[in-house]
Amino acid sequence: SAAEKCGYASFMLKEIAEQPKAVADTLLGRIDGSGTLSLDEVRIPPGVLREVDKVVVVACGTAFHAGLIAKYAIEHWTRIPCEVELASEFRYRDPILDQQTLVVAISQSGETMDTLMALRHAREQGARVLAICNTNGSTIPRESDAVLYTHAGPEVAVASTKAFLTQLVACYLVALYLGQVRGTKYGDEIGDVVRDLSGISGAVERVLGTMDPVRELARSLAHKNTVLFLGRHVGHPVALEGALKLKELAYMHAEGFAAGELKHGPIALIEEDLPVVVVVPSPRGRSVLHDKIVSNIQEIRARGARTIVIAEEGDEAVVPYADHLVRIPATPTLLQPLVATVPLQVFACELATARGNEVDQPRNLAKSVTVE
Ligand code: G6P
Repeated sequence: SAAEKCGYASFMLKEIAEQPKAVADTLLGRIDGSGTLSLDEVRIPPGVLREVDKVVVVACGTAFHAGLIAKYAIEHWTRIPCEVELASEFRYRDPILDQQTLVVAISQSGETMDTLMALRHAREQGARVLAICNTNGSTIPRESDAVLYTHAGPEVAVASTKAFLTQLVACYLVALYLGQVRGTKYGDEIGDVVRDLSGISGAVERVLGTMDPVRELARSLAHKNTVLFLGRHVGHPVALEGALKLKELAYMHAEGFAAGELKHGPIALIEEDLPVVVVVPSPRGRSVLHDKIVSNIQEIRARGARTIVIAEEGDEAVVPYADHLVRIPATPTLLQPLVATVPLQVFACELATARGNEVDQPRNLAKSVTVE
């Protein structure tokens, strides 16, 4: 009802706006003042976690994109090999699982049948399953060895927004916790990450405060047929998520690519005035990737693309090649998806609305898919 939307035109807009709180609530009580994680709720004994030699993430849809980002964090911070697989594919390829495998099942609803069947298969093979879930007492956490709940609150719109951001937070917490339990060297970087995680809610709030030009841009592109999304490193799953949102809501052909793959095929798609959204990694840290993506922007622009560039505040190198520039706050590299995804959600929501679509209930989709 209108009352439940608290004055917003749609649940999706309301849920996008709730993201700073959802992120803060998911962190609440889980990191203490000294930067130590306390995740006692994760009822897998530290001794078992120390023996884990492989992490496998299974999920569907938007939750799968959170999993793709989790891989970067888990491998970088813990040095444990991590695979990410679509839950619907997982058990059909006879995956290699044993008692030292930690399976992380990510699901907003906790009822997605594909994800449930994947975790059942994993447990039959002796693997431990940790669920990351937004719905208390739902089937996936009940059938898992442990659960880390996301505190996004109920998500009503079919296209996931605040649940996704909190899934990312939970994935970072799991990665940091695994590192902590296993005594992985906590360098300065980890300290920075924990501190920046604590400030990330404010960063999301700042992004939300600057979205008017993004909405205007989205309306101006409502007649287009195709939008492409490019990213690298953790920006690649962000590009995939931006494209998924546009498919779900605007019913447009939208595709996400790893920017390094452009030259191996997708660049053939570039034509005059084709909108291409590029998620640019921070110029600090992994600056090699930054320079490469700036070259990609130049290449596609030279071929006529209309470039929509999502870049960190203070990144001046992109300015000459951006037809539209969207600024996001500086964050540690691995945390950038928490701020970079937000403009893509707003973009898809506004573009879909401009096309006359019902954003909360897109055609042919269900909030939770309880059949395989
Ligand atoms: C459905 C929804 C998607 C969601 C996916 C996984 O397809 O339409 O928005 O990402 O299920 O849902 P889950 O509840 O498992 O996160």
